[in-house]
Amino acid sequence: MKGVFDHNEFWKFHLSERPGFKDKDENPAEFWDKMAAHYERSSFRNTENNIRDFLHLDIRPEDTILDIGAGNGRLSVPMASKASFVTALDPSGGMLERLEANMSKTGFKNYKTICSRWEDISVPKDIGVYDLVVCSFALGFYDLRAALEKMDKAAFRSVCLFWFAGKKHDDGLVSHIADSKWHEADEKPPYPDYQYVINVLHEIGIFADVTIETYYWKYPFESPDEAVEQALLFKKIGPEDRDVAYNYYLDRLEEEDDGTLVLRTQADQAFIKWDKNTD
Ligand SMILES: C[S@@+](CC[C@H](N)C(=O)[O-])C[C@H]1O[C@@H](n2cnc3c(N)ncnc32)[C@H](O)[C@@H]1O
Repeated sequence: MKGVFDHNEFWKFHLSERPGFKDKDENPAEFWDKMAAHYERSSFRNTENNIRDFLHLDIRPEDTILDIGAGNGRLSVPMASKASFVTALDPSGGMLERLEANMSKTGFKNYKTICSRWEDISVPKDIGVYDLVVCSFALGFYDLRAALEKMDKAAFRSVCLFWFAGKKHDDGLVSHIADSKWHEADEKPPYPDYQYVINVLHEIGIFADVTIETYYWKYPFESPDEAVEQALLFKKIGPEDRDVAYNYYLDRLEEEDDGTLVLRTQADQAFIKWDKNTD
């Protein structure tokens, strides 16, 4: 069946159709710098999910780990508590600042950061090879096949990925706005889901294990206005939809005991893992 359907080309097509897509070489740092504060609050509001993800990783004390798209260290920090060394790579300086602050709160020094896109790294020349390569919710590479091949090359023992299964977390705003205008929602999925990832892997001869689980997330916002600003940043809505979006979030944000407003969502996620053939 090889060649009948090229999943990597499908992936590229989908990414180029994504709201806000500029070009295949765009640097995601500007977007993620803007998202860093919210991401940080959100990862602390969902610690049980962070633990659940961490427990999937079979970390040994002597392990060196490369965390690609490490963000604020949601996983790098607990990984540093168990492994010998963690290299956290991310193009967003804003995210890496938070990662460094979170490492320093725990006192861990067995890590380093690299501020770069994964696409711009040459393996092994620029970073070496690691026992474990982890890439969690950071597979937004235009050329997924090239990125996965490089991850495989960067790992001695295993590669672990987390990605969406089915719909990414959806707060229903886009359909609500479409309903209010009496037309069908034009909801472009931000990314193709895990099945394209495992198919691309299959096409390069990697047969990965997959575990699907349902996760419940709480997204904290200071106000409905902040939720609206984020929907604009994600290009889910245009400025003309501000008022409808504001009222939508006003109705749906729930107040927690500590006064924080949260939006609850539920989504399935995939844990994808392959071991290197060490024969
Ligand atoms: C959704 S966050 C995930 C952060 C972390 N891995 C986690 O699970 O909490 C996505 C991260 O991927 C990073 N990222 C985006 N594009 C990237 C690229 N081309 N190469 C490496 N990292 C990238 C972003 O800067 C952001 O910090």
